[in-house]
Amino acid sequence: MEEIKPVIERKPIILSGIQPSGSLHIGHLTGAIKNWVELQEKYDCYFTIVDLHAITVRQNPAELRKRTLDLAALYIACGIDPEKCSLFIQSHVPEHTQLSWVLTCYTGMGELERMTQFKAKSEKYTSNVNAGLFTYPILMASDILLYQADLVPVGEDQKQHLELTRDLANRFNFNYSDTFKVPEPYIAPVGARIMNLQDPESKMSKSDENLKASIFLTDSYNEIVKKIKSAVTDSDAEVKYDKVKKPGVSNLMTLYHIATGKSFVEIETEFIGKGYGDFKGTVGVAVADYLKPITDKYAAIRKDENYLKEILQKGAEKARNQASRTLAKVYKKVGFVSFK
Ligand code: TYM
Repeated sequence: MEEIKPVIERKPIILSGIQPSGSLHIGHLTGAIKNWVELQEKYDCYFTIVDLHAITVRQNPAELRKRTLDLAALYIACGIDPEKCSLFIQSHVPEHTQLSWVLTCYTGMGELERMTQFKAKSEKYTSNVNAGLFTYPILMASDILLYQADLVPVGEDQKQHLELTRDLANRFNFNYSDTFKVPEPYIAPVGARIMNLQDPESKMSKSDENLKASIFLTDSYNEIVKKIKSAVTDSDAEVKYDKVKKPGVSNLMTLYHIATGKSFVEIETEFIGKGYGDFKGTVGVAVADYLKPITDKYAAIRKDENYLKEILQKGAEKARNQASRTLAKVYKKVGFVSFK
């Protein structure tokens, strides 16, 4: 009689990452890590610290090393469970750059020229418009496709990169045969684009020189309260959610919603007849309270570098196991000789 093999149900896969290129701000939490934490139970998760991406902009080596470990500690402090997820440093898994080369040969120059982040960064870092900045989205596509990710939780600014990833996966699958899972982006309905506190028409960004523009996850309680007090709003005094007419107030309402779980209608009602002074004071305290457990936990975890390195080493091993399988398939399909 033929043996009946048990059907092993595999969990769907998530991959996401953050660059260790500056201090993490609250947008990284609401646009990315918070959603990772919420999804980690139901998915097989790979969370990476994308140091290869970070060197597309000049980095101080000692700083980069430090920030990479800072970021690992922050992932855990925010609630990523290293027992459930693979947490790893991108450069520890060489398959990322190997797949990237193959996919580079399947990407049109025009596709890369259209990327808004390339345009923005090449305008900002005029003295260093390097080829890595240009091919960056291909490396990002490789990060995702190596793990056969079903879902990629990111903030809104990564949407275009995800579209290119899907195009490359479809192109490769069409040219050879099914090789890559075509991933879906996961962009949270609220918090996927937190705006700059001093210029609410632009997104909060870690490379902003004005420190008052961002709430960093390492800011002290008082700094957070102060920064929100000095956030730019508008000249009327109505707390109302309207992203177009009242971007500053809407941004603070978003942060307040994330910190307290209150709906926008509840927030509007709470502040009827009250001025922006009251509003900003309340939001500041709520956001500082929300971040405090993370900051406290972070300080404790960051101290233990051996623990962090152990987790990152284990994470890289698990990641390589999956990544090498996908790369072997790709190499075979494109026609590279293998002796295995
Ligand atoms: P990075 O490092 O700029 O940002 C990390 C994540 O944070 C989100 N984010 C925001 N969300 C809401 N409001 C903001 N103001 C805000 N700023 C940043 C980003 O959308 C992102 O999800 N290319 C990526 C890193 C990357 C990656 C990947 C992501 C490399 N490979 C593979 C996912 C999958 C980047 O530069 O993100």
